[in-house]
Amino acid sequence: MKIAVLAGDGIGPEITAQALRVLQALGSDGLRIETEAAPVGGAGYDASGDPLPEATLKLCEQSDAILFGAVGGPRYDTLPRPQRPEQGLLRLRKHFDLFANLRPAIVYPELAHASSLKNEVVAGLDLLILRELTSDIYFGQPRGVRVNEQGEREGFDTMRYTEGEIRRIAHSAFQAARKRSRKVCSVDKANVLETTQFWRDVVTEVHKEYADVELTHMYVDNAAMQLVRNPRQFDVIVTGNMFGDILSDEASMLTGSIGMLPSASLNARNFGMYEPIHGSAPDIAGKNLANPLATILSLAMLLRYSLDQEAAAARIEAAVRKVLAQGFRTADIAEPGKQTVGTVAMGDAVLAAL
Ligand code: IPM
Ligand code: MG
Repeated sequence: MKIAVLAGDGIGPEITAQALRVLQALGSDGLRIETEAAPVGGAGYDASGDPLPEATLKLCEQSDAILFGAVGGPRYDTLPRPQRPEQGLLRLRKHFDLFANLRPAIVYPELAHASSLKNEVVAGLDLLILRELTSDIYFGQPRGVRVNEQGEREGFDTMRYTEGEIRRIAHSAFQAARKRSRKVCSVDKANVLETTQFWRDVVTEVHKEYADVELTHMYVDNAAMQLVRNPRQFDVIVTGNMFGDILSDEASMLTGSIGMLPSASLNARNFGMYEPIHGSAPDIAGKNLANPLATILSLAMLLRYSLDQEAAAARIEAAVRKVLAQGFRTADIAEPGKQTVGTVAMGDAVLAAL
């Protein structure tokens, strides 16, 4: 088995380094997984003028899964759009048809204090946002800036979903719910947008095959409000690319730290890309401050979903729970008056717990 490691920019290299130490530790217990690194994002641009260099894409094609750090940084923000780091990420998603983006938000009891919400609102929260990742206004054509008939400049994008794209993410949602509390909430803006009324209709059709799963629908503005009012009403939230981008950042903060949350982006054959949901955090890059746990937990998801190594995945997750229980905290999840550790020391703690 082989994993392509695309560390990317900012804190990406530091956090993936800790995940690789964890993988190595599992290796000494008999798990044989080869890894190979390649540049992506700003690092790809620096190496060869392209945020997704040809050689990087080839490596991914020859691998069983991708472990991804983070991309982006102020140095690259003024480049023309095709050269921007984010394009590396979006092209990977599209190339491998990684339509199902799993973003779990779990509140660890030890970290409930780190949430900006009251403990009684978030304690025990375990929700899964399933975001469609390869369509919607992110990829719809046409798009651009033009001069309109009145001679004024206007910007435009196209929100678009095909029936097949909605069906497959709906199936993923109902199947994921079967392994959880059997509740799916589909989020849309059907009161205003044609595309999302169509989304609602298709999700309702697919639901006929899943009588054992409860389906509700919610408008996205209400969902944003309900997420902070009473997040535990949700089990699986399924939504489109744009709404999922926004709601998953919101959900991450319920858990106290965006530095804790892993994600998986899967295609129909369970090939996947695994990444922390946080970004490249250029302000703390290279300072040994970043929390590596989201990346370490992303590795656990990789082992579970793409390599079918449930036991190894569960071991990593147990080790993370243990270090939290032991009181290890990076700055982002710090408790007043308690000592914090850096990126490497947090990696050390996870290794010890393993
Ligand atoms: C995410 C990020 C990306 C997105 C950016 C970096 C293109 O915000 O993964 O949520 O918008 O999908
Ligand atoms: Mg986002």
